Amino acid sequence: MSLDAFIAELDSLSAAAQKAFDSAADSAALEAARVEFVGAKSGKLKDAQKGLGTVGKDDKPAAGKKFNEIKTAIEAALAAAQIRLAAGSATAGGAAAGGPPFDPSQPGVRPRLGHLHPLTQTIEELKDIMGRLGFTVAHGPEIEDERHNFEALNIPKAHPARDPLENFYLAVAEKSAASGPLLLRSQTSTVQIRVMESQPPPVRIISLGRVYRPDAADATHYPMFHQIEGLLIDRHVTMADLKSTLRMFARSYFGGDVHIRFRPSFFPFTEPSVEVDMQWNDRWIEMGGAGMVDPNVLRAVGYEPEEVTGFAFGLGVERVCARRHQVTDIREFYKNDVRFLEQF
Ligand code: PHE
Repeated sequence: MSLDAFIAELDSLSAAAQKAFDSAADSAALEAARVEFVGAKSGKLKDAQKGLGTVGKDDKPAAGKKFNEIKTAIEAALAAAQIRLAAGSATAGGAAAGGPPFDPSQPGVRPRLGHLHPLTQTIEELKDIMGRLGFTVAHGPEIEDERHNFEALNIPKAHPARDPLENFYLAVAEKSAASGPLLLRSQTSTVQIRVMESQPPPVRIISLGRVYRPDAADATHYPMFHQIEGLLIDRHVTMADLKSTLRMFARSYFGGDVHIRFRPSFFPFTEPSVEVDMQWNDRWIEMGGAGMVDPNVLRAVGYEPEEVTGFAFGLGVERVCARRHQVTDIREFYKNDVRFLEQF
C-alpha cells in the first residue's frame, strides 16, 4: 500500500469514528461504536494497523507517526463523547429534581465570616490612638477589693459611692478575710492604683475594660459598661497636658475638628476635677471625668507628691462609639442582633 493510500484510509476512519461517537444517543450506542472502532480484537483501528506492514520501508516512519496521531484523535473523540453522555445524564437528573444542571465550575457558597463587635473595634482603636501617644495598656481584675476600688482612691467609708446599693458586692465577700469584702469594680480607676503600686514613676498607661453599677438600663445606662482610663504621672505634669492629650485623642478618634471643654466637678481621687465634654459636628457630649491626681492618692501608693504630679481621665467607651456611629441607644450594643451588629 502506498503511503498516500494509507493516510487516506486513516483519515476516513477517523472521520467515521468521530461521527459515530458524536451521534451516539446513549451509552449503549456509544459502547457499540467503541467496539466497532477501537475494539481490541477486531476494531477498525486494529485492522488499519495491519496496513502499516504493507507500506514501503522508507515510508514506515511517516506512516507510523500518522497512525499514532489518528489513534490519539479517535480516543480523544471517544472520551469527549463519554463526558457528553455523562453530563447529559446529570442534566436529566438535575432536570428531574427541578434544579439546574450540575456545573462543577461554579464558585462555591462563600462562608459567612463574622467580625469584631463594635465595642471591641472601638477598644482596639482607642488603644491604638493612645499607643501612638506613648500610653501602654494595663489590665486589672473585674473583681476588686475595697482598697483598690475606693480607699486608695481617696474615697472614704462614708462616701455615697460606697453605698452597697450603688455597687455589686459579692456574697462571698464576707468570707474573704484577707482582702475584705469584694465587689465588681465600679470604675477602671482601680487600675491606676494597681499600676502605681507595682512600679515607680513615671507612669503612662491606659486601661480599658468592663465596669459594673446597679443602674436601671435605659438608652444611656446599663448595669455593665466599658471605660477607658488614662493615667500619666511624671514631673511637671499640668492640666494643659491633660487637655491637649484629650484633644489629640478625640481628634484621632472622631476625625476633624473636635473641641474639648472642661467643667468643674468633683472626684475624690483628682484635684482639681473636671467633667470632659467634646464637641463634634456641632454637638457637645459628655464623655467622662478627669483631673489632676490627688496628692492623697499618690501618697497611698507610696509616691512623693512633692516630686511628681499627674493627670487621670476616665471616659465611656459606649459613649464615644455611639457618638461616632450615631447610635442612640447603648442597649443595642448588648442585644446581639446581627442586623444591628452587621453595620459596623
Ligand atoms: N472613675 C471616674 C468615673 O467612673 C472617672 C474618672 C477617672 C474621673 C479618672 C477622674 C479621673 O466616673
